[in-house]
Amino acid sequence: MARIGNENCIDCSLYQYREEYPIVKNLLIESSEILIYGMCPGKDEVKQGIPFVGASGQKLNTAFLKIGWNREYLSFANALLCFLPKNINVTKEMIKACRYNLIKTIRSLPNLKMVVPLGEAAIKSVLNKYTNLKIRDYYCNPFKIDEFKDILFVANYHPAYTLYNPSLEKDKLFFDGFKKIDEIFQSLKIVNKKLNHIKVLNEETLTKILVLISKQKQFAIDFETTSLITWRADLLSIHISWESKTAISIPYKNKVNGRIVPFWNDFLMNEIKKTFINLFSDDVIISGQNIKYDSLISRKEFGVPIPYKFDVMLSAFTLDSSRKVNLDALTTQYFPEHSGYSNILDKYITKGKKEDGAFADVPMDVLLEYGALDVDIEFRLTNLFVKELNRL
Ligand code: URA
Repeated sequence: MARIGNENCIDCSLYQYREEYPIVKNLLIESSEILIYGMCPGKDEVKQGIPFVGASGQKLNTAFLKIGWNREYLSFANALLCFLPKNINVTKEMIKACRYNLIKTIRSLPNLKMVVPLGEAAIKSVLNKYTNLKIRDYYCNPFKIDEFKDILFVANYHPAYTLYNPSLEKDKLFFDGFKKIDEIFQSLKIVNKKLNHIKVLNEETLTKILVLISKQKQFAIDFETTSLITWRADLLSIHISWESKTAISIPYKNKVNGRIVPFWNDFLMNEIKKTFINLFSDDVIISGQNIKYDSLISRKEFGVPIPYKFDVMLSAFTLDSSRKVNLDALTTQYFPEHSGYSNILDKYITKGKKEDGAFADVPMDVLLEYGALDVDIEFRLTNLFVKELNRL
C-alpha cells in the first residue's frame, strides 16, 4: 500500500484549516486495476486519515457488494486532499492546485485499467476543464485523456448525491451506474481475444478471399490511403467486414525505396481490381466512414464508384449532433474494450494522422491490423445505427 499527498502543501487556501483538518492522502494498492475518486474527504475520512470510510464509503461498499468488487483490491483518491470546511465552496483554483496529486496517483498504479470519477468536481479535475459540465453527460459514458492513453475513465454520480434527499431513483441511478461500469471493466479484459482479423499476405489466400468477397451483399469497407486529397491519394490497403469481430485486410500498394508501388504482381492487382468492379456493379449495400471519400478513391483506382452507401459518421451525427463524431470517440463510447486502438500508429506517425503521406510510412503489417479494427468497428456501428435510425 502507498499513500500520495503532502501534508505541508500550501498550494491553495485550504491549508489554513490544516491544523483542525489534516489532509487525507490518496490510498494506493499497487496491484489495483481500478481507481475510484471523489471530490474531497469528509469528517470521518479526516478522523481516520483514509478516503471513503464515512457514509459515502458505505454506499460505495454496497455498490461493490452488488457487482462483486473486493474493496481491498481498489485504490481510492480525491480531487482535493483537504476537507472543505462549512460555508466554503470548492473552487477551480483548489481543484487545479491539487490536480497533480491525482495525476501522480494514476501514474503510480502500473496495472490501472479504469478510473471512476464520482461527481462533477472529480470529472473537472481529471479533464482539467472547469466549465459548467454536467454529470449526466459523463455518467457511464467512457472517455479518455491525453495524459493516459491506455486508461479508460468512466464516471458515476457521487454517492453523496444519493444521501442528501435520498430517493429510490437516485439509488437506482447510482447502483445501475456501477453495474454498467463493471460491464465495461469486464469487456476491457477480453480485448482482442476473440477477433477474427485476417491479413491477406500470400497469393493463395488472396485468391480464396477474392472469391469469398465477390459473394458478399452487405458489408463495411475502408480504404487506407496516402492522402486525404483524392487526386494525390494512393490506395495502400483494403479492409472489409461483413460480420462483427471479423475483418479481412488486403494490401494494395506500399512504399518501397521512397516510391509507392503495387504490392502484388500485375495479374493479381488486376484480379483485385476485377473483383471490386464486379462487386460494386452488383446490388450491394456498403457502409463505411466518410464513404464519399472511399467512393472517389474507388473511382480513381478501379474506375467505378462505390454504389449504395451508408455513412457511419453521418448517421452518428444524425442520431446525436452534440457528440464528437470520429471513429476514436465512437469506439470509446460503444466498444470501450477497443478504445485507443489507433495508438498502434503513434510509433510511426510523428505528425498528425491526417498529415499527407503519413500512412505510407506505417509498416504494412501494422496498417493491416489498424484497418481491420477500423472496418470491424464500422460494421458493428452500422448495425447499431441502422437499428437506432429505424426507431426514430
Ligand atoms: N466524499 C468524497 O468525495 N471523498 C471521500 O473520501 C469521502 C466522501
